Amino acid sequence: MSFLRCDRTSAWQRLQKHFDETGRDFDARHAFVVDPQRFDTLSQEAPHLFADLSKNRIDAATESLLLGLARECDLEARRDAMFAGDAINTTEDRAVLHVRLRSPVAELEVASVRDAMLAYAEQIRGDTRITDIVNIGIGGSDLGPQMAVLALEEFRAIGKRLHFVSNVDGHELAGVLAGLRPENTLFLVSSKTFTTIETMTNAQSAKAWFEAAGGRDIARHFAALTTNAEAAAEFGITTTFGFWDWVGGRYSMWSAIGLSLAIAIGAKGFTELLAGAHAMDEHFRSAPLALNLPVRLGLLDIWYRNFHGFTSRCVAPYHQGLRRLPAYLQQLEMESNGKRVDLDGDTLPFATSPVVWGEPGTNGQHAFFQMLHQGSDVVPLEFIAVRDAAHELNGHHPKLLANALAQAAALLQGKSDDGGHRHFPGNRPSTFFVLEKLDPAALGALIALYEHRVFVSGALWGINSFDQWGVELGKVLAKDIEPRLSSGDTTGLDPSTAGLLSRLGQRG
Ligand code: F6P
Repeated sequence: MSFLRCDRTSAWQRLQKHFDETGRDFDARHAFVVDPQRFDTLSQEAPHLFADLSKNRIDAATESLLLGLARECDLEARRDAMFAGDAINTTEDRAVLHVRLRSPVAELEVASVRDAMLAYAEQIRGDTRITDIVNIGIGGSDLGPQMAVLALEEFRAIGKRLHFVSNVDGHELAGVLAGLRPENTLFLVSSKTFTTIETMTNAQSAKAWFEAAGGRDIARHFAALTTNAEAAAEFGITTTFGFWDWVGGRYSMWSAIGLSLAIAIGAKGFTELLAGAHAMDEHFRSAPLALNLPVRLGLLDIWYRNFHGFTSRCVAPYHQGLRRLPAYLQQLEMESNGKRVDLDGDTLPFATSPVVWGEPGTNGQHAFFQMLHQGSDVVPLEFIAVRDAAHELNGHHPKLLANALAQAAALLQGKSDDGGHRHFPGNRPSTFFVLEKLDPAALGALIALYEHRVFVSGALWGINSFDQWGVELGKVLAKDIEPRLSSGDTTGLDPSTAGLLSRLGQRG
């Protein structure tokens, strides 16, 4: 499919002019004064959530120019190509169809794996002898299920403990194993490829621990979630739930990779999660661009990254359950859009993925918010607040929500104080999401929103958001270096790596 890269459009030139004329010095405080409807026009409902964009450095003119950019780049055709199953992941010649996993009218193959996986989840939930479920996986085979299990704690099956082991650092697995008994444990080996060093090392060690502790029934205590059933069989696992190469690793929590989550929240909860994501898919597919939330957010990202030059974006979920959301979003956004060449392999003359980072509020307020309020960089912030709490402790939730509102207001308004130590410049942009409740449907919609927003900016930048070649080189070098730690061989290494290897070497 031919595409027009954002910087080669006339809309790009118009945006640059708009930025030079009014964008650079845009003050959202002033914009509220001149436009009393600003909150209404720059906020919107989307499936399962509400978003307020009005504290950002945009107005109707900016949005209209950004929408012109989307149209000139034929964003709708790019989006439709994804939904239609075109091989838009061109460097791997693959379709990108995670949306199909949440469709209520999935093809037979998708529906049958989903049904089998959910039936298995229910079976484990009903098996009182299994008290501990250990998901062994990394990246997309860890972050999504882990983030969601923590977020949906309220819905978790009683009597089941969920553990997530990702790091090849044995301290993590050793710490988890220390609290387990083989007869009560189910290991889920989650790996799209079933070749990832970290996961294979942890899975082998878990198996060795299981057998050394007298465990025999691997079929009952190990399951594999993978597209590589042969490798799982070779490992000795007979219970395998598969998925397909058109599910990218960081888009895989909706597939069999979500089994730990399905065990935690049950088939009903998992189905609701998929339905929430599907509702957002439909919104993205059919809402007019001007009221299409993933589109508005993706365009805002381009405005900030390419015109304002903001280098990072902070995510502050005001809900303890969402504490792993920033880590999840780091992979989603930075592995997808951390690219420097376009689909033709040409070097881009503009910036792509910002650094995405964050911590739950209110903790972040007592750590890095100082820099957000008064630092020399402007960092657009994203607040996620949940109206209803899932606990009954008196007084906590209003304090939490008040803090979220207060921080967003303070960032916007600032405070004059002679430009000195107590001066807050204000006009610091933020977006505010409101969920009524952190339930499976709302979480599904929120994650799908982020997925599609990343798609939008990636599509306009003209990059392939669905490959991840940048992680390969380090993997190859690690393989080469590992035996050198015991042999001490530094041949061909750069002097720094050679010097460090000598210090870290484990000879004799
Ligand atoms: O880090 C690269 C990566 O391929 C991610 O994209 C992926 O989520 C992760 O490794 C794990 O891969 P796998 O599921 O194949 O073990």
